Amino acid sequence: MRSTNHIVNALKQGILVWMLAVLFVFSSALKAATEDAGGNTAGISYIAAQQKEGKVTAKKSKTEASSSKKESSTRPYDVIDPEFRNIGPGFGGNNVLPFWIAVVVFFLAFGGIVKGKSKAVKGISTLVAFVAFGIISYVIYWEARALGRQKGYAPVQPIWFSHKVHVTQNGIDCEYCHVDARTSRHAGIPSLNVCMNCHNSVMEGKRSGKAEISKIYEHLGYNPKTRRYDKPGKPIQWIKVHNLPDHVYFNHAQHVQAGKVECQECHGPVEKMNRVVEYKELSMKFCLDCHRSRNIITDNQYYSLYKFHLNPGEKPKVKDIGGQDCSSCHY
Ligand code: HEC
Ligand code: HEC
Ligand code: HEC
Ligand code: HEC
Ligand code: HEC
Repeated sequence: MRSTNHIVNALKQGILVWMLAVLFVFSSALKAATEDAGGNTAGISYIAAQQKEGKVTAKKSKTEASSSKKESSTRPYDVIDPEFRNIGPGFGGNNVLPFWIAVVVFFLAFGGIVKGKSKAVKGISTLVAFVAFGIISYVIYWEARALGRQKGYAPVQPIWFSHKVHVTQNGIDCEYCHVDARTSRHAGIPSLNVCMNCHNSVMEGKRSGKAEISKIYEHLGYNPKTRRYDKPGKPIQWIKVHNLPDHVYFNHAQHVQAGKVECQECHGPVEKMNRVVEYKELSMKFCLDCHRSRNIITDNQYYSLYKFHLNPGEKPKVKDIGGQDCSSCHY
């Protein structure tokens, strides 16, 4: 009898420690998300806050964050499109409700186990607690895996720039604005002068009226009445959405030009987004999965000699040219 008591006590203590860990992890995640998330907070609380529109603007200082909060509330058109709302790390926003319900149910069931009067109550409580424990652990596991990644990250930008309006509705090519994607490491964000190629004549949008387009003018110090740049401008600070850790090397030209990889394979359907969302989990697995299965395209000059060494019909994959070597991607 004594030994079973020991086991029960050990179990109780274990569960207590586990519950404390749950509370600790999620209170700190919540704190990080509601304050400055620093760009690296994954987890349920992060996504939950984000859905309240502009609550979380990681990578920004507090003052900036609060000003964009105000901004977003006066920008009803600036929303994350419904189809991109629940693609956060782990389960995305979908696990917020089940998680907290499971936590409450677990505590209730735990009470049932401790204080239950009859065997039946205790039995059912144990079963329920067990299931809730499973759900909570499962969510924590996936959230922990996603820590530090920012799939689903969709900050409010200083000007509401909609890719849907520009790419889908007005047929502008990605590389008209992201000119460097083919030639350099960074795809680059266009300067506001590029916007002016059109917006010196397009002064109003269907949804935002003059509110957003006039911000382009403001930043450039442009006066649309006199059509002169006669005011002091101020640089615009777009918030970077996709961020690999500093220890990873990634090059656009290598993929877009040499590898002929479509933007959408890594960035998802940007052309459907009113607000850019990080669509894919940019994990190491994501990179390697493609490198292991993708053939390289050898009909460019770079491979003219390499091709010479291949057997007839041999189709080398990215991994065969070093796409799996740690040092290709890590400094
Ligand atoms: C008219 C100009 C324009 C066109 C065309 C355009 N973009 Fe952009 N893109 C921008 C601007 C401005 C930003 C920065 C603001 C933002 O994130 O919404 C941006 C941001 C992005 C980002 C996020 C960058 C980051 O911070 O991580 C991605 C990815 C992107 N664009 C991909 C595309 C793809 C793919 C296409 C074609 C389907 C495209 N863009 C077409 C102007 C453009
Ligand atoms: C093989 C995957 C891949 C492809 C293909 C790809 N990107 Fe990217 N893109 C990334 C990654 C990863 C980052 C983040 C880079 C970083 O943080 O260093 C990024 C960042 C960006 C950014 C932010 C600014 C920058 O350059 O860091 C823009 C804009 C962008 N991509 C646009 C595009 C466009 C437009 C295309 C197609 C012409 C494209 N990307 C194709 C993976 C890709
Ligand atoms: C090649 C032409 C072109 C370029 C370049 C361009 N735009 Fe536009 N933009 C348009 C057109 C056309 C519209 C009108 C769409 C509508 O409302 O039907 C528009 C609409 C807008 C709107 C209002 C959308 C709405 O529905 O209210 C904003 C804001 C905007 N653009 C911002 C920008 C920014 C910022 C840039 C530079 C990064 C930019 N545009 C570059 C053509 C362009
Ligand atoms: C959808 C497919 C795809 C994805 C996803 C992808 N790559 Fe690549 N990658 C390629 C292709 C194709 C090449 C070969 C390009 C060439 O022919 O030089 C390549 C080449 C490279 C190289 C050069 C390898 C060498 O030794 O020559 C590096 C470095 C690289 N990728 C890094 C990354 C990183 C980092 C990521 C993840 C953020 C990534 N790639 C995701 C397709 C992909
Ligand atoms: C094709 C590119 C690529 C190659 C090859 C690669 N890595 Fe990575 N690695 C990445 C990316 C991208 C990340 C960042 C993932 C993230 O943000 O979670 C990463 C992250 C890591 C991390 C940090 C832990 C983590 O998951 O964030 C370690 C450690 C690591 N890599 C080790 C290695 C080792 C060891 C090798 C060689 C066997 C290797 N990598 C090869 C792309 C690569």
